[in-house]
Amino acid sequence: MTSGRGASGPGGGTGEAAAWVDGRLVAAGAPVLSVGDRGFQLGDGVFETLRVRRGVPIELALHLARLREGLAVLAIPMPWSDAELAAAIAAAVATNAPADAAVRVTATRGAPAGRGLLPAGWRDLRPTVVVQAWPHVRVPDEALARGIRAIVASGRRDAAHPLATVKTTSRADHVHAKLEAERAGADDAITLTIDGHVAEATTANVAIVVGRRVLTPPLAAGILAGTTRDWLLRPEGAAALGLAAAEAWITPGDVVAADEALLCSSIAGFQALVALDGEPVGSGAPGPWAGSLRAAREAWIRAASGG
Ligand SMILES: Cc1ncc(COP(=O)(O)O)c(C=O)c1O
Repeated sequence: MTSGRGASGPGGGTGEAAAWVDGRLVAAGAPVLSVGDRGFQLGDGVFETLRVRRGVPIELALHLARLREGLAVLAIPMPWSDAELAAAIAAAVATNAPADAAVRVTATRGAPAGRGLLPAGWRDLRPTVVVQAWPHVRVPDEALARGIRAIVASGRRDAAHPLATVKTTSRADHVHAKLEAERAGADDAITLTIDGHVAEATTANVAIVVGRRVLTPPLAAGILAGTTRDWLLRPEGAAALGLAAAEAWITPGDVVAADEALLCSSIAGFQALVALDGEPVGSGAPGPWAGSLRAAREAWIRAASGG
């Protein structure tokens, strides 16, 4: 968690100087976490990744609410208030220099003395809470112009699983999907539900544009309730551009038959998905809606962070 070895952060940035760990700032490489920490041992934790612009965490309330909901599913208490977490984010951002940052908030069940899934005294454990910040790195223009080529991941999503919509620190299935993409020479992987509907990409939600409608899978597809997806569906999102946004079950066939397809996340924004399993989506090149939605979301973030 605090490796500090110049590892690439959520925004692709490097050089994390210090992390906020349980109330204090520590050098990013310092050995501050117990080897017994459940996040390390079992992936027993929940995290959030959010964008900070000009020192303003974008949609902080949504991110913290999602974090608390996820923690509640795993019965992990959050010892810090939203105001304290906001102060922790401010401290991590200030220490790591740029006011434009990618921030990660991680909370795990903590470090029990004993072994086992729920060892004696687990209810009294003090959770470990870490806030990290990296410089925000925007997606390069060449990458935007090229668009994302994805494969369909071999693993399926059980949409009925109680953790399907929780951003747990157990991301090995997402890492595996990304490895499959890498091996196939693709940029990303789309995971399908057990019954073959599109769920989400490895670190983004999916949407398609058909005519003047933009469609994104429902939360019942077992996906993360992405904040960017949420914006897309709100009146200030797609509707402000004259697109009717709705939730809909979509298949890989719908993706390749669409006029455009999109991936969206708080750090990377909107990006065009131009191919799926080697089949071109629409014209096979980024279309106009990907650019318009990206620009509109950026303008909204600028306004939300004071211009
Ligand atoms: C699996 C997955 N889906 C969707 C998203 C998009 O969520 P948000 O828009 O809140 O960043 C993410 C973001 O990291 C993600 O990891």
